[in-house]
Amino acid sequence: MTEGVSVSGRSASPVGRLAGPQLPSPCGPLSEAVIERLRAGAGALPPAWDGAADADPADADPYGLDLQLALYVLYELHYRGFAGVADEEEWDPGLLAVRRGLEQRFLGALRKDVGTDVGTDVGTDGGGAGGEAGGAQAAVGGLLVEPAGDDGTSVSHFLRHEGQLWQLREYAALRSLYHLKEADPHAWALPRLHGRAKAGMAAIEFDEFGAGRAEEIHAQLFADLMADLGLDTAYGRYTDQAPAEALATVNLMSLLGLHRSLRGALVGHFATVEVTSSPASRRLAQAMRRTGAGPAAERFYDEHVEADAVHEQVVRREVVDGLLGDEPGLDADVAFGIGATLFLEDRLSAHLLGAWRAQRSALRSPLPDREP
Ligand SMILES: [Fe+2]
Ligand SMILES: [Fe+2]
Repeated sequence: MTEGVSVSGRSASPVGRLAGPQLPSPCGPLSEAVIERLRAGAGALPPAWDGAADADPADADPYGLDLQLALYVLYELHYRGFAGVADEEEWDPGLLAVRRGLEQRFLGALRKDVGTDVGTDVGTDGGGAGGEAGGAQAAVGGLLVEPAGDDGTSVSHFLRHEGQLWQLREYAALRSLYHLKEADPHAWALPRLHGRAKAGMAAIEFDEFGAGRAEEIHAQLFADLMADLGLDTAYGRYTDQAPAEALATVNLMSLLGLHRSLRGALVGHFATVEVTSSPASRRLAQAMRRTGAGPAAERFYDEHVEADAVHEQVVRREVVDGLLGDEPGLDADVAFGIGATLFLEDRLSAHLLGAWRAQRSALRSPLPDREP
């Protein structure tokens, strides 16, 4: 166990540890080009980036580990950055151009797979061209319908009924990529929203950020959960172990949060998270209790059962309805955000359940103290 990690019943070190994490290890030509450029601290991207077929984002698997890791590293420049990488790299024009190429590949694939005909350019105005009016309300309505029982595809059902402690630890390790910056990508949307949508989102974000109490910031509650599970709470600690499916779910939030043109899709993402969280959190709290994970581990999910039951109402009535009242042309974009979130979460669930049912680690490398 590393410094700052505590065991059940003791508090984790503050999530506000500000030093950025180490750069992760590359895993292909795209991530190698980006990470080596950041490690060098200056200069152009390697010549291989321009023209060489093996480093062209247009040819890369849009959901593959190499592209997702390269994109994840570039997005992290907007959050904590990395140890030894200058803060100014966040706005380096060369890196931004690379990011745009990766985003276009990722977003284009999502548009195709989610089945909306809204334009594919990151830079286009997300005016909801195409798609059916009312699609957003139907999509939100679909989120409210919980399957009657466990259909075999739900990670929270699996963990509740048969999850073992090592599987809960793996789940927490890979979810830490988001939960240690919980609600941050959605905060980027606030200046792009107005009226009821802004007020509703700010009210929810206020809760996510601890309602005025640092120790209640949800990212801190998650660090406390990780400490109960004997995990390292350092920000970015598990990036090297995260599979592509997990990186993609976090990259989607960063993509939608950083582009004003995608504000409708960001609201769709936010709605999906808030509407589906409460029932899933109830099952995950039960899993933590059943396995004796610890009080902070239970607390994180118990808190979300209650808080997200309220957030679900606010996000539907104020954020989604408020946005569409102001900008009805974003209807298809909201629906796309919901569809893209569900699509990537389904891929992650299939990956996790496939590995765990075979008693294999779902991480790229197993946690050091548990070989499943
Ligand atoms: Fe939360
Ligand atoms: Fe919430």
